[in-house]
Formats: sequence, structure tokens, C-alpha cells
Amino acid sequence: MSVPAPSSDVLAQLRISALRVLADNDLGDATKPSSTLYPHQWLWDSCFIAVGLRHVDPERACREILSLFRGQWPNGMIPHVIFSGSGEYHAGPDRWRCDLVTTTPGRVQTTGVTQPPMIAEAVVRVGEMLAPARRREFYRAVYPGLVRYHSWLYSERDPDDTGLISLVHSWESGMDNTPTWMELTRRGAPIPLRLVRWFNGDGALDVLRRDTKEVPAGQRLSATDLFTLYHLVGELRDARYDFGRIRTTRIPLVQDVAFNAILIRANHHLRDIAGGIGQDLPAHLDRAARRTAAAFATLFDDGMYWSRDARSGQLIRRPTIAGFLALYAGVVPAAGVTDLVARMTAPRFWPAHGIASVPTDDPSFQPRCYWQGPVWVNMNWLIADGLDRAGAAELAERLRADTVNMIAGAGGLYEYYSPLDGAGVGSNHFSWTAALLIDLLEQRDA
Ligand code: SER
Repeated sequence: MSVPAPSSDVLAQLRISALRVLADNDLGDATKPSSTLYPHQWLWDSCFIAVGLRHVDPERACREILSLFRGQWPNGMIPHVIFSGSGEYHAGPDRWRCDLVTTTPGRVQTTGVTQPPMIAEAVVRVGEMLAPARRREFYRAVYPGLVRYHSWLYSERDPDDTGLISLVHSWESGMDNTPTWMELTRRGAPIPLRLVRWFNGDGALDVLRRDTKEVPAGQRLSATDLFTLYHLVGELRDARYDFGRIRTTRIPLVQDVAFNAILIRANHHLRDIAGGIGQDLPAHLDRAARRTAAAFATLFDDGMYWSRDARSGQLIRRPTIAGFLALYAGVVPAAGVTDLVARMTAPRFWPAHGIASVPTDDPSFQPRCYWQGPVWVNMNWLIADGLDRAGAAELAERLRADTVNMIAGAGGLYEYYSPLDGAGVGSNHFSWTAALLIDLLEQRDA
């Protein structure tokens, strides 16, 4: 099915709306993803936002990235949320109590988990817009923090040198209620929550939620899943966010395929950033980067890349968009690209507007529910970038065009979109959709 292309007037209007969203969500040196649902700073959101801001104000894009380091923990972790806005958030500092465990350079409160390591990508993209001397200055400013972050990922989350990082919460994957994670996570749900789920009592629990004020409950994860994720935060807090302790509990550990794919690309960019300031990547990171690129192949089976349950060693064979991030990682052997692309372009995954987060024929598919079906602009952006590098530039162009047409068709900068009819769902005035739209339009004009 092809989606009609919008007129240049519509696109010009959309760009103006995107600029307004970024201005409205501006917190000074950081940008909140949305003023209602996500009123603070999120790690990977800020990276995608910087990719768009670079076309508008490269210096502001630099500050968006630098502001992430205000939340860096002394051990090197960069947290998934830096509480820097003023709005009410359903999983705020009191749920995490990270102040009992650590301090941050900016004395900001943070969460105790991380998010996909998109920073190096954002740094390079922003760097492309800077004059050489300014770029080197920017690279020098971010490099030590980035090295400490990547070092933390390996020393803390891969102490056995498998090459693959383990995540401890689905919020770290960024794909909160993806079937890959929820199956494992639900096993650790406390008995009362399991009973509510068993008796289909989600509706009763919905009244206790604070995340459904702007967005209908049916477009968010279910109440029992959300409360299970809260429960897991409590367990992580009890373990002081320390992987050595977490390993002795029953908290799910996942070698997440999308996160590790993004890390592979981030390692590549980190090497370039080091080169740009006349340095070599520290030897331990150089070795680790090679191990990850090699170990990623162990996630491949039966024509697809999967996440792995790090406790049982079993691959989690739930088809989701995450496996296609292998294209973004740039590690799919040339002979395998055609098969993976054929799988991805089948109508069950790509009905019209780009890639569905869960295929339309999957039992858990829900077209408007968060990571259980909707199309996400950041995913299309990442996969299009990977397709370019895999020699499939035409398909990359189609994916970018479908994305722009979908946003235009929905008439708004939504958090995610139904793969069936392109309707905008989730939060409206969503920053990364706005920022990446600006980037997609610039790429198109170029
Ligand atoms: N996406 C989660 C939320 O709803 C946490 O990052 O807030």
C-alpha cells in the first residue's frame, strides 16, 4: 500500500510545528520528550533530539548532549532519566531513591538504570555541522565522559566478557512492553498482580495510574505490566543498582538485541571521535568493541536476530522490530542482508508506514499500544540509516518517505503511529518525532 505524498506547503507547515514542539519542550540546555507524559530529560530522547536540533542551532544541539553528563554517576553510568523538569512523573525520584546510592556532578536526581547508548551517534551527527576547530573542542568535551560510560557498560554489565551487555529492566531497552521483555518480566510479578492479570482486572488498577492522564490506557502498557515494572524498580533499588547483587536475585537479565546493536554502532563512532582528537580508543574498549561485534552473531538463528535470556542462555524467539537493528549495527553479512530485508518488508512487518514494532499477525499485536505494534519514528530512522550502509539506499529512501508521509497524514507529531492506518497515538507534541522529522526533511532536500 502506498501512502500519498504531502505537498510542499504541508511539509513546510509540519516543519514549523516541529520547531514549535522543540521550543515548547525546551528546558534550557535539555529538552523534555513531552510536557505531559515525560516532563524531564531522557537519555536516548535527547540524542535523537540533538540530531534534529543540529539543523536549527548546532550549539544548542551540543548543549543537549553535554547536559546528559550532568547525570553521569561516579561509576560512569549515564542514567535513563535525569530529573530536571518540574512536571509530575509517574516514576519519579522517590521510586528510585538513587540519592541513597550515589551523587551526580550536576547534583540532579536520576533513575538507576540506563538506556540505549545513542550518545556517540548524536555526537558525530552534531559534529558534522560544526567547523573543524569547534568540532574538535566539542569532541574533547564529551570524549572522557563517553569513555567512562562505555567502560561502565562493559565492566558492570558484561563482567564475564561475553561481548554482550545485559540489561536489568525493560526501560533500559527503551521498548517498555515489547513481548520479548514482558514474558520474562511477568514471571517475576508479585502474586497479587498475577491474580489481577489472571482475572483481567487491569481496568480496576487503571484508576491508580498517573501515566494515563494524557494518553488513553489502551495506548500505554497494561496496568499489571506497569505495576510489575514498578515492582522491579523496587528490587533494583534493594540491590543498590549493583549488577553483582542483581545477579544474585531473580531479576530478569536480557542480552537485548537492539541495545547491543546500538552499542556496536556507538563503539564505531567512539573510535572516530577518538581519532578526531588524535587519540586511540583505550585498549580495553577496543577489545570489548571487537568482542561485541563478534558475539552479536550468536543472537542470529533461523533467519532473525533475537535477544537472549542471559540467565537461561536461551534466545527469546518473539518476532519484534528489535532484530532489524542488526542492520543499523552494520554487522549483517552481505549474504544475509537480502533475507533480513525480505522479512522486514513483508506486509506483516511493513504494512504501509514503516516497520511495525510487533508484526501484525503476532498474538500480542495491538496497533495502538506502545511497543506492541505501533510504528516509531526513531526506529524507522535507525533502520533507514542501516539500510544505506548495507547498500539498500533505495529502500532506505522509501522508508524515510513513508515515515514523513505517515506523520503528515496523521497531522501531528505523535509519539507513535498505528501501522494499519497511520493514526497518531501516544503523546502528541513529542520531541523526538519533531526532531527526526526535521532531520528527515533535511536529508530529503539534500
Ligand atoms: N518509557 C517509560 C515511561 O513511561 C520509562 O522510560 O516513563
